Amino acid sequence: MELKKAVGLKAAEYIKSGMIVGLGTGSTAYYFVEEIGRRVKEEGLEVTGVTTSIRTKEQALSLGIPLKNIDDVTHVDITVDGADEISTDFHGIKGGGGAHLIEKIVASNSKEIIWIVDDSKMVDKLGAFPLPLEVIKYGSQQVFNHLEEKGYKPAFRMDEAGGKYLTDEDNYIIDLHLGTIENPTALEAELNQMVGVVEHGLFLNMVTRVLVGSADGVQDIAI
Ligand code: A5P
Repeated sequence: MELKKAVGLKAAEYIKSGMIVGLGTGSTAYYFVEEIGRRVKEEGLEVTGVTTSIRTKEQALSLGIPLKNIDDVTHVDITVDGADEISTDFHGIKGGGGAHLIEKIVASNSKEIIWIVDDSKMVDKLGAFPLPLEVIKYGSQQVFNHLEEKGYKPAFRMDEAGGKYLTDEDNYIIDLHLGTIENPTALEAELNQMVGVVEHGLFLNMVTRVLVGSADGVQDIAI
């Protein structure tokens, strides 16, 4: 909790008045959004937020952060978001919270992308964390079967009520239990052309800064 808060506060230091800011999703991004809300209220920080999920939108609105839709801005200056795994070459897996589709759309339109994580997220190679695929409902069992044949150990993500988990865009999520991803670039290319997969959680060559929280403090790594 404290490490997540530390990196959230550190990331907020990069935000200046006038910026259009992508607001990430998850338990780490939560602290960043809280701090932006505090600065808006107490310091008169003037920013426009672009949210990456319904959860973050509700949080930002409750804090009084002015928001715009991604289609109503010319660009995003900085997006700050969490990640589930970051490899030594700074590729990432996102989507543990089911928001990677919108997160990737916002990130793709951002000049800078900052990931905030605690040191447990830093790994040699990606893949121990299940890789999420957002898939449209129609034909999703066929996509699942196809992934199973490939040996990718797919599992539909389930919700607390025992039904299939639904994303903000009303799609399903299939998590791939890959263990180790030896060639993320090849896997990305394969998943990009898979019909029915709306978006996968591999974020390759995207991040521009990583803030890693550990017992020693916050490490600030510019990529
Ligand atoms: C949301 O779908 C994810 O991409 C999150 O950004 C990611 O799961 C990190 O979340 P935590 O900060 O809660 O670990």
